[in-house]
Amino acid sequence: LIAGCAALAVFGSAGVFAAAKVNTIGSVSFANALAVPPLAPSRLESDGTRVFELEPQEGSTSFRPGTTTTTRGYNGNHLGPTLVAARGEKVRVDVTNRLDDRTTVHWHGMHLPPAMDGGPHQPIEPDATWSPEWVIDQPAATLWYHPHPHGETDNQVTAGLAGLFYLRDDAEAALALPRTYGVDDVPVIVQDTPIDDDGEIRNEDRGFVGALGRDLIVNGTPGPYLDVETTSVRLRLLNASTARTYNFGFDDRRDFAQIGSDGGLLAEPNRTSAVRLSPGERAEIVVDIVPGERVALRSTEPDLGMLPVLAGQNGGADRFDVLELRAAATLRPSAAVPDALVPVDRIQASDAVTTRTFRLDGFTINGQSMDMDRIDEVVTVGSTEEWVVTNGMTMPHNFHVHDVQFQVASVDGKEPGPELAGWKDTIYLAPQVEYRLLLRFEDYADSDVPYMYHCHLLWHEDNGMMGQFLVVEPGEQRDLPGAPTSPK
Ligand code: C2O
Ligand code: CU
Repeated sequence: LIAGCAALAVFGSAGVFAAAKVNTIGSVSFANALAVPPLAPSRLESDGTRVFELEPQEGSTSFRPGTTTTTRGYNGNHLGPTLVAARGEKVRVDVTNRLDDRTTVHWHGMHLPPAMDGGPHQPIEPDATWSPEWVIDQPAATLWYHPHPHGETDNQVTAGLAGLFYLRDDAEAALALPRTYGVDDVPVIVQDTPIDDDGEIRNEDRGFVGALGRDLIVNGTPGPYLDVETTSVRLRLLNASTARTYNFGFDDRRDFAQIGSDGGLLAEPNRTSAVRLSPGERAEIVVDIVPGERVALRSTEPDLGMLPVLAGQNGGADRFDVLELRAAATLRPSAAVPDALVPVDRIQASDAVTTRTFRLDGFTINGQSMDMDRIDEVVTVGSTEEWVVTNGMTMPHNFHVHDVQFQVASVDGKEPGPELAGWKDTIYLAPQVEYRLLLRFEDYADSDVPYMYHCHLLWHEDNGMMGQFLVVEPGEQRDLPGAPTSPK
């Protein structure tokens, strides 16, 4: 940590810029069929509760012929199964820790009680079982789950602990969208896991943003292709990398429809040729394809709002081949993406009763490093707030809030682009730009257990770029250590 801070302090020197590695990755040969995570089995209890079982465990995986990589996975060697539940369902997940060390399982993007959230306050010791349960009460969305033990999140996610959690609802089901899992509705979990020549994962060389790998794995598959049988395919993109931001598009720059962001479908499709995702963010896209063609999903030069000289710190000058789509000679016709998707109820800035400011600098937020015994913010349940978030540095950060899906009121004082018009739980923070977020806190006040907000570049999070907020009943007085009794 000390070394990291020292390095941050000298980040402005030209010598450091010159040392920045710029990875230019050439084409990969798309030689491997894309693995699709299995759907997690579940059982229904007599009261209707849908029960899943997850076992984080040690494993080994061969990503390259002739090498073996020590990995971790849920119910398997690497990554985890996709959980699916519907709005209104009560779910329980029995998590039994088969690892040698402590872990947690956080349901990223989920609205749920703080004690079920799976943050650093819900550790699962080796061989112990943790059984959070809650009722799904939010729109259909592509959420995910991953470990969140304080200080160890980067290592555990990089080793392979991550999986998807799909939520379904009637509004989404009523739309003519591709939704056959693994056929025309395909998860795309993108990771630049740093795998060494000998096959082992080495993430100690972290630079400023964290470890940046030279090659991608997608759903754990290097150089993947997907056989497509329909004229449209829906890709659910998740950036599950620890540090790298991507700018996804196709090699022929064709347009596609972005239909969803972190917290669910957009009100209307965003026709675009590129979508940028920082760590933790998701996008659902639908792309059209013609019989017999091959088209590659790529990541090219994300606009990070940074000086070009810094680009190598986060892949700004990088190009990655991600996934080749291979259309069959004959395709089944898909319906056109509807012009209207789901209503997105706008949160009004005038409803915000409280404004809080968050400045990310060094490995701190508002000058404070994460302390599990300190409550940083106290929010009243039922209220709407405006959070003004700024990255005070010259390197990329992002901002993730547990429990709520927020809306973006403005970016640098301006109306945000269509890709930010829907529900978000994680947002990229360009250096020195002010982001105004609107958050509505409903349900689940708890006087003891906090939720987290943090940078989702996992090395930053592990090193303290995280804070804690409590949601309390109206009028409740807080006298916990460090808890402000009134909003700042
Ligand atoms: Cu995806 Cu607090 O994390
Ligand atoms: Cu950060």
